[in-house]
Amino acid sequence: MSIEILGPPAIARMRAAGACAAATLAHVGGRIAAGITTAQIDAWVREDTAARGAKPSQLGYHGFPAAVCTSVNEVVCHGVPSRTRTLRDGDIVNVDVTSDLNGWHGDTSATFVVGEIDAERRVLVETTKRALHAGIAVVRPGARLGDIAAAIMEVARREGLGVVREYCGHGIGRQMHLPPQVCHVGRAGTGLRLRAGMAFTIEPMLTIGDPPLRVLDDGWTVVTTDGSPSAQFEHTVLVTADGCEVLTAR
Ligand code: MF3
Ligand code: CO
Ligand code: CO
Repeated sequence: MSIEILGPPAIARMRAAGACAAATLAHVGGRIAAGITTAQIDAWVREDTAARGAKPSQLGYHGFPAAVCTSVNEVVCHGVPSRTRTLRDGDIVNVDVTSDLNGWHGDTSATFVVGEIDAERRVLVETTKRALHAGIAVVRPGARLGDIAAAIMEVARREGLGVVREYCGHGIGRQMHLPPQVCHVGRAGTGLRLRAGMAFTIEPMLTIGDPPLRVLDDGWTVVTTDGSPSAQFEHTVLVTADGCEVLTAR
């Protein structure tokens, strides 16, 4: 499948879908506190998404059983919300919202902290956020996908943190997942050349060291095998004539 170049009508729809996902993420993010369960986050996402006239893109996606991914501590991504997973002081939780508004998708996530977290987790979360923004900062026509990865890796390297290579960003539009794959590990000057009108996500996951990952028996939840924490932030971006627009800005 080739990579679609979006024109003005499609861009307007993507802006609306991105704003919708961003608003839902902000809504639930403001409610995260010790004592709630990740199933509660799922319920809030369902309500808020419906209130905005959208559908949760992830619900039923290849059989995914919930409306949102909630990835706590050692869960790297694709955490399945659970009635038995209660958030506690010191936890970090990534909430990944993808909204389908009139057939167009916006995808965004953030890692929220619960109460007081230790210094190691704080550095992990803050560095991951900076890594996403470093990746976004190099997006413009003519730049290469590898430039995004290199920018992310450099931010992680300076803090001695690892970048997950098994899971990538992706093109997005009339489907949640489209080509190209946007890897967060790579070399500057390599990979697809960006063109104005391309829309894709950047969603780096950072780890402490480079622990092996594994998928739990639920078929979804990706964890570090050593139990060490991981953080992730994600935005949907559009390549513009002179740089990029973050479609899921909050
Ligand atoms: N929103 C996720 C991403 O960033 C999609 C996860 S697929 C799911 O690509 F089925 F696990 F929801
Ligand atoms: Co996502
Ligand atoms: Co995504």
